[in-house]
Amino acid sequence: MDKKLIIANWKSHKTIGETKSFLEEFKDRIADIDLSDKEIILAPSFTSLSFCFDFIKSNSLPVKLCAQNVSSFPEGAYTGEINARQIKEFADYVIIGHSERKRYLNENENDVESKTKEAKDAGLTVIQCIQDENSEIHKNADVIAYEPPSAISTFDVGIAETPEQITKVFNDIKDRLGEKKLIYGGSVAENNIASYGAIEFCGGFLIGGASLLAESFINLLKKC
Ligand code: PGA
Repeated sequence: MDKKLIIANWKSHKTIGETKSFLEEFKDRIADIDLSDKEIILAPSFTSLSFCFDFIKSNSLPVKLCAQNVSSFPEGAYTGEINARQIKEFADYVIIGHSERKRYLNENENDVESKTKEAKDAGLTVIQCIQDENSEIHKNADVIAYEPPSAISTFDVGIAETPEQITKVFNDIKDRLGEKKLIYGGSVAENNIASYGAIEFCGGFLIGGASLLAESFINLLKKC
């Protein structure tokens, strides 16, 4: 079966200690979840990635890892950058082109193009975020995450889209997708995830604020 991707995007949250607390609680609750139709993916900060990797391995958790960014350059003299091969040591997925990086860090489509290529060459599965139906879809992307910036919350100020609005955008872009999977992100929460899950072509979710607490993330997993 083609599993739904349920991705927790922790953004710039959680120290290693906080990551550990989340995982300890999550590990005890995950047994209740039916995983036959979903792939659980955590996208922690780079600083928590190796801790998550070890924890998942030693506890045999059914969870994959994702980086929130990747260098647009290969290995080399690029101070502060983390390249795709380094990420592949810990993660299978990477998020590229998030609207927050475009807004606050001036990331542009050329950067997205280079990053998707670097990631793909290293064997990572690329989750490219797009902001609207006119956004460029990069050929090296495997998953397209439709994330309208107006719906993305910094905690709970985002205005969620209706299933009808999302369906319209999905229909507008579906002919440009080829084999790429389509997922939705932006204020996904306990009160809307079931209605979003019913949307045709919806292959999963990218979840920010509501994935930060283990209890809330588990509740979302139960509803999708
Ligand atoms: P949100 O974030 O769920 O907090 O709106 C989603 C995202 O930006 O990936």
